[in-house]
Amino acid sequence: MTENVFNSMANNYDNYDRKKLADVIRLEISKYLSNDSSNDILLDYGGGTGLVSLPIVENFKKVIIADSSKQMLEIALDKINIGNISNASILLVNDTTLLPNADIVILSLVLIHIPDTETILNKIYKILNPNGKVIIVDFDKNEKVNHPMIHNGFQHEELKAILEKEKFKNITIKNFYSANNLFMKENATLFIVQAEK
Ligand SMILES: C[S@@+](CC[C@H](N)C(=O)[O-])C[C@H]1O[C@@H](n2cnc3c(N)ncnc32)[C@H](O)[C@@H]1O
Repeated sequence: MTENVFNSMANNYDNYDRKKLADVIRLEISKYLSNDSSNDILLDYGGGTGLVSLPIVENFKKVIIADSSKQMLEIALDKINIGNISNASILLVNDTTLLPNADIVILSLVLIHIPDTETILNKIYKILNPNGKVIIVDFDKNEKVNHPMIHNGFQHEELKAILEKEKFKNITIKNFYSANNLFMKENATLFIVQAEK
């Protein structure tokens, strides 16, 4: 877990580049959301400062931003308070936290930071409501990236196999964005996964 890194990054996390990237990711995720999500609970797991989910909070019954970094969540909470947003909350999590049930779980740029991919996807499967879905955005595997604390991206087939093992169905994976200097200073490509319970 890279909690300490994000604690120290939190105050400067929302810079121009990260906001632009979050806009790209949110736009892509929106294509996988139904026109009416007003009865849905969205869990933004590893949601950090809420860059991806808070701008679309009004589309949902409730948005819960869960994260292992208290400082990242404090930035999200400031936004919730300043915006007087009544249907969003934060949740500090660790490996043993019981997650709330949700209809949609988003993992945006989080899975690479979680050592045990299978365990977190199993946990998410269990808390998804019937017919719920997970939407994952992360980096394609990149052999140029080598860092002890993170995965160097994912191969589509490898991730699909894990999701299938955890009983997710109707799994789709596709690339949607590439840019220079995106992943640990390397050129990188983002994928989006949708998988249903
Ligand atoms: C690169 S940031 C992405 C933030 C946000 N999802 C976005 O797209 O803007 C990764 C986030 O995952 C959180 N994180 C890392 N490991 C985690 C874990 N095991 N459980 C929950 N959150 C985690 C970090 O604290 C950080 O806020």
